[in-house]
Parts: sequence; structure tokens; C-alpha cells
Amino acid sequence: MLELKDIVWDADDGERIIDGVSFKVPDHKLVVITGPNGGGKTTIAKLIAGIVEPTSGEMYFNGDEITRDSITDRARKGISYSFQQPVRFKGITVREMMNLAAGRELSDHALCNLLGRVGLCMADYIDREISAKLSGGEIKRIEIASVLARRSSMMVFDEPEAGIDLWSFTQLVQVFETLKKEEHASLLIISHQERIIDIADEIIVVKDGKVAGQGTKEEILPTLMLQGYNDSCSVKKMRNVI
Ligand SMILES: Nc1ncnc2c1ncn2[C@@H]1O[C@H](COP(=O)(O)OP(=O)(O)OP(=O)(O)O)[C@@H](O)[C@H]1O
Ligand SMILES: [Mg+2]
Repeated sequence: MLELKDIVWDADDGERIIDGVSFKVPDHKLVVITGPNGGGKTTIAKLIAGIVEPTSGEMYFNGDEITRDSITDRARKGISYSFQQPVRFKGITVREMMNLAAGRELSDHALCNLLGRVGLCMADYIDREISAKLSGGEIKRIEIASVLARRSSMMVFDEPEAGIDLWSFTQLVQVFETLKKEEHASLLIISHQERIIDIADEIIVVKDGKVAGQGTKEEILPTLMLQGYNDSCSVKKMRNVI
């Protein structure tokens, strides 16, 4: 289980971006974080992956405190993270990236299977360099495949739907379900997509750096629909402007 306890993160200019966030991702569950743009979702994912360090608060993974652990330590313990906007590791091929992620040389059969899960044909991509020549959707799918290659027990996906066409997205939703049900992974998915919200065990709404709501789809969806979460002029933002 992953647990965040009262996590706070202040940006370099002192602005409080994450303001006392606490939640749990139980084993073998799929938790979705949703909420308005700029609410703090990606920052929470980066805090979990160890890319940014919390100003205060604690984080635990399977009972171990990981608050100050490095990215590598967390990866070793079984946490993997897929970026909202994937990094293009120029100079390496898709095959090399997949092998790096898996920590071993993958067979062509395994590579074909992994890339197939994100709707890519191995022969077309395997020797291509991860450069600007790949489209946004291609790079996103390759990155998701590299997270699958890691076979971590806890996978964090930041807006996996971004840039992915509808057909591949349907396939991706099935991949998430299989990961949870058959491979017993725990998943934390940041998403605005109703079809991902549909398969969640729990939904967390993050707004203004805080947990604004938490519960099952049945509990959360009506409030999301009723209030809408995109009130673009929150009190906090108005205060900043004034
Ligand atoms: N390094 C940083 N320094 C200052 N402000 C930051 C930094 N990183 C993020 N922010 C700000 O923190 C807020 C939350 O950003 P974050 O990327 O976590 O939002 P988000 O919920 O993922 O939004 P989206 O739905 O658009 O992806 C934003 O207002 C953003 O501009
Ligand atoms: Mg984001």
C-alpha cells in the first residue's frame, strides 16, 4: 500500500502548490486522481515518484517510509511513473529503452507483446530512435509500454489518455483492467477520462493543492457533474490576482 500523510510542497518562490494531501492507494486497487487543470495532480505524481521532494509530510510504501528516498530507490522498491509529457531520451532506440526499463534483455516475443498492448507493431518501432521524429501519441504509447516492461507493483500514470487515439485508448483501458485483475498491480491513474473513472475502485478529486473529494464513482461523479470542477476563478486565485 502507498500512503501519503499530510504532504505539503512549496515551489521555489514560496507558493504552496500542495497543501496537506493525505490518501492511500491500497494493494491491487485502481485509484484515479482527477480535478481541474493546475490543481496539483502532476505535482503529486512527481512527489510519489521522487522527482520533487516534499516540504513536509510523510510517505510510506508497503510500510517503509520513502519520503526522502531517491527516484532510483523508489523504482527499486516497485514504484514506476509515466509522465504526462514523456521525456525524449534522444540517442537511444525503442528496444534499448524497453530493455533499460525491464532491467534485462527482452526477447522479440516479449517486446512484440509489450508494444502490442499499447497498439504498436514491434517491427515498425523497435529500431527507431526516441527523437522528435516520433509523434506525440507514439512517444506516449512507447513510454506506457516501458512502464509495463518494469512490472512494478505500483504504477503511476499521468494522463495516459493524452494524445492517444480512441481505438488505442479503448485497448489501454483494458490493459489497466488486466494489470489490476490478473497481474495484481496497484494503479494510480491521473485522468479526466470518464472511461478510466469508470474502472476506478476509488476517485480522488484534487483541487487547489488539496483533496476536495474522495470516494467511489457513485459517490464522486454526481458532485463532479453538479458543481463542475472548473470554476476558473477560485477564491485562492482571486486573492492572488488582487
Ligand atoms: N516547479 C514549479 N514551480 C512553480 N509552480 C509550479 C511548479 N510546478 C507546478 N507549478 C504550479 O503548480 C500548479 C499545479 O500544477 P500541476 O502540474 O501539478 O497541475 P495538474 O493538476 O497536473 O494540471 P493539469 O490538469 O493541467 O495537468 C500549477 O498552477 C502550476 O503552474
Ligand atoms: Mg498534470
